[in-house]
Amino acid sequence: MRFDERAGSYEANAAPQRRFAEALAAFAPFRAGANVTELGAGTGFLTRALLAQGVSVEATDASPAMLELGQAAAPNAVWKLREAFGPQPKAKAFASSGLLHWAADPVQVLKHWYAALPKDGRLLLGVPCDPCLNELRDLTGEGPVRWRDEAQWLQILDHAGFDVRAHGVLESTETYGSALELLRSLHDSGVTGSPRLGAGELRSLIRDYDRLHRKGDAVAATWAWLLVDAVAR
Ligand SMILES: C[S@@+](CC[C@H](N)C(=O)[O-])C[C@H]1O[C@@H](n2cnc3c(N)ncnc32)[C@H](O)[C@@H]1O
Repeated sequence: MRFDERAGSYEANAAPQRRFAEALAAFAPFRAGANVTELGAGTGFLTRALLAQGVSVEATDASPAMLELGQAAAPNAVWKLREAFGPQPKAKAFASSGLLHWAADPVQVLKHWYAALPKDGRLLLGVPCDPCLNELRDLTGEGPVRWRDEAQWLQILDHAGFDVRAHGVLESTETYGSALELLRSLHDSGVTGSPRLGAGELRSLIRDYDRLHRKGDAVAATWAWLLVDAVAR
């Protein structure tokens, strides 16, 4: 992932992330006046949706460039540069969208979050899950993220000490002008790491994707996000 490097082009290339963040806030709204710490807030899609509910948001992110953009876009939140995968300061509730799947050991990360919450403290979590981008993954193989399905994520939450009160998977089909446009959009949103394919492999990938997933004058890609409303046991 290259979020700090690509912060300036994230929003223009993150339409699915924006919709999922807004859906997450609407899925299990906090009461007005609640204090919520957001982890991996990025440019503030979820932050803005929470602020619109009257929530007091402490928005945190490890990327200085993302933090600067988030602060400008959602000045009513308190923004802090903070690593989300280690121990956290005490919080009343956590919210996060599009972050936890980047953790090498999500159970350990969730245990840190759990330790910072009181009993019954809420976690509102959005995380991409299988079948997100399955068309692309079928052609490239897995990576840079290890993709998990809904059942695996629910098990991870359980192992870390969270009781899930409500959950659901939102799926949407996004269209792009071509496979090249899809790849450019992923690249410009910062979700791709170092190039794993040579020029020839990349050309074949684009050709195969265009051939297999063209619908009229566009190509399709499945996006899927698990929405979870959980409490610390
Ligand atoms: C896909 S973006 C999601 C941003 C936002 N939540 C949204 O829904 O648009 C992931 C964000 O997590 C941040 N991030 C990644 N790893 C992190 C870590 N270990 N600690 C804190 N933030 C991290 C990135 O800088 C980036 O802003």
